[in-house]
Amino acid sequence: MQDKTHLVDEITGHRRMRRNRKADWTRRLVQENRLTVDDLIWPIFLIPGTGISEPIAAMPGVNRMTVDRAVEAAKEAADLGVPAIATFPNIEMHLRDETGSNSLERNNLINLATSAIKNAVPNIGIITDVALDPFTSHGHDGILRAGQIVNDETVEQVARAAVVQAAAGADIIAPSEMMDGRIGAIRRALDAAGHQDVGIMSYATKFSSAFYGPYREAISTGGLLKGDKKTYYIDPANGTEALRDAALDVEEGADMLMVKPGLPYLDICWRMKEAFGLPTFAYQVSGEYSMIKAAAANGWIDGERVMLETLLAFKRAGCDGILTYFAPEVAKLLAKRG
Ligand code: PBG
Repeated sequence: MQDKTHLVDEITGHRRMRRNRKADWTRRLVQENRLTVDDLIWPIFLIPGTGISEPIAAMPGVNRMTVDRAVEAAKEAADLGVPAIATFPNIEMHLRDETGSNSLERNNLINLATSAIKNAVPNIGIITDVALDPFTSHGHDGILRAGQIVNDETVEQVARAAVVQAAAGADIIAPSEMMDGRIGAIRRALDAAGHQDVGIMSYATKFSSAFYGPYREAISTGGLLKGDKKTYYIDPANGTEALRDAALDVEEGADMLMVKPGLPYLDICWRMKEAFGLPTFAYQVSGEYSMIKAAAANGWIDGERVMLETLLAFKRAGCDGILTYFAPEVAKLLAKRG
């Protein structure tokens, strides 16, 4: 009779995976992926006024900030080593209209924030979205005509908005509205206005997702939205279509690509990185953030460890970085660990 140990030996031969896992030092030595502060982009929410930082009920730990507070936050993030922020404005309701015309104002909330932050914190990158949803009275990302989101007219407007944002000091324009032809149009408009150095991070594959709920509360678009965004965002069932959509953005001149939401779409992150080799980012969106916070608040998961594990998963899936509301929290944690 062979004993159990012998039996396992016959199966494994010399192959024992656990040798490399046996101690902290071996595990550190063989670790394939690592999360660093350089991987983080911090999305922040803006409100008009001064001296206000107000909590967002659906996103515990995240605040809407007036420009002066956003400047302080950007300074703190830069001091922690966070390379870039992404800004999203919650503008007054009376400024929102059918075509999102406030997006073209030089002194609108997002542009004021950009120039103030650029001025005070020149060493942090500023990424601005040109989708029209913060500016429209119907909460859609584009111009609504007779019940339809019109493509080409929206593209013209977001390209103009991109030029205004670049003039205010934006370093990277990130169009998230998923209209066809937008990357090429924005590139041409930026170049024509002398902004050759302003990059484009395409929300290349943005899925029609239920994970955006808390964000819509953060910028007060949830109650406004009529219908859904299925005629312009990608169906969560479609991976190959997502790749084709991203391929067009690459052809049209995108400098960086993004996948959104993040964790449910790691396969897309991997496929995009493999297919194009461009710097590729995942957006760990509001619903992903809030799920972790809610479960942690209930004591059902270890929030800190789940946060780090999800962010590391993006690295393993080939991402060069992550847009995450956890950015300051994780930057502090990484700094503490040294
Ligand atoms: C829309 C936009 C969305 C997000 C950022 N810009 C999605 C939407 O409201 O449909 C979501 C970000 C998040 O959920 O964190 N242009």
